[in-house]
Amino acid sequence: MVKDMQGEVVVLIGGSGGIGRASAIRFAARGAHVVLVARGRSGLEAVAEEIARQGGQADVMPADMSNPEAVRQLAAEVANRHGRVDVLVYGAAVFYLAPAEGLQLDRTRQAMDINYWGAVHAVQAFLPLIRRGRRKSITFISSLSVPCTPAFFTAYAAPKHALHGFAQSLRQELRPEGIAVTLVTPGPVDTQLIEGHLHQDMYRLPLGVPVLTADQAAEGVIQAVLRRRAEWVVPRRFGLAARLSRAFPTLLDAYYRWTIPGWTQTVLRVTEPHRGRAPVGQAEDQTGSGAADPDTGAEPEPGAGPEPVRTSAPAG
Ligand SMILES: NC(=O)c1ccc[n+]([C@@H]2O[C@H](COP(=O)([O-])OP(=O)(O)OC[C@H]3O[C@@H](n4cnc5c(N)ncnc54)[C@H](OP(=O)(O)O)[C@@H]3O)[C@@H](O)[C@H]2O)c1
Repeated sequence: MVKDMQGEVVVLIGGSGGIGRASAIRFAARGAHVVLVARGRSGLEAVAEEIARQGGQADVMPADMSNPEAVRQLAAEVANRHGRVDVLVYGAAVFYLAPAEGLQLDRTRQAMDINYWGAVHAVQAFLPLIRRGRRKSITFISSLSVPCTPAFFTAYAAPKHALHGFAQSLRQELRPEGIAVTLVTPGPVDTQLIEGHLHQDMYRLPLGVPVLTADQAAEGVIQAVLRRRAEWVVPRRFGLAARLSRAFPTLLDAYYRWTIPGWTQTVLRVTEPHRGRAPVGQAEDQTGSGAADPDTGAEPEPGAGPEPVRTSAPAG
């Protein structure tokens, strides 16, 4: 592989698993010195060992990105060791699907803390180091669920939408300084993040949507950094779908309805146990009669739930 990033310092946040791990290995193969960040030390050490085996260089720096003080300390450590950052990649995230009425607020806030606020913390702490860097690149790993947001993605997609707003404004703000701000928006990727969710009722894939490997998504991250584009959709052919979905949001409704057999009934079945429950803050038994498991959407015992809502929605 061509060593076109020789000596560059790449801070890879979320570098212990999936897309982050695969990206780290690719950056190191191009000659970069990779700073691996995630909460768990052992996962980071395994990636650093793999990079070392392939002749690359990596530091292990565990940090919880939802904690701004921990992120400031992380940046101080990177400043001490390297004095600058050439590329910052933010890919830390958690995944949580549920019907909106059944959202567990602590998990929903955690998703916002990690998937969005962590990125804000990273930019604030690392920007002075990026200004001293050579490549001057900030890349956020977002998701195709921003332009094409499916049902039950409220907790996961809302922070990603916030990330897009943040990144787009930041791009304008930092352009005069020659700092590139890029969003990578991959479709579904076979990683631990979505394990156990994909192909279940709350995560059905419409016709033609492939499941990418972590390596395919990581190549998208590398290309986004090298080409300094505003947005890099993976796979590339979904760029048009993303643009169409933004321009004509109701196209997505039809796409889901017509390409997933029984989709409308599935949505109604998953949301049914949550209908008619007391709003958050009002006392109601959420574990007994009528309440579905908010994570899985599993239905309560027959006869235990609320009366089903009658609907005239067309079949999916
Ligand atoms: N998989 C998909 O289908 C898919 C599709 C589109 C976009 N994406 C995006 O791609 C990125 C990477 O996802 P992935 O699929 O590779 O997931 P993954 O394998 O679960 O990796 C997530 C990484 O984030 C780290 N992380 C989580 N919480 C953190 C925190 N508070 N502080 C620091 N690090 C934290 C994890 O390590 P620790 O748990 O040890 O902290 C891990 O290294 C995410 O932004 C995700 O939203 C994924």
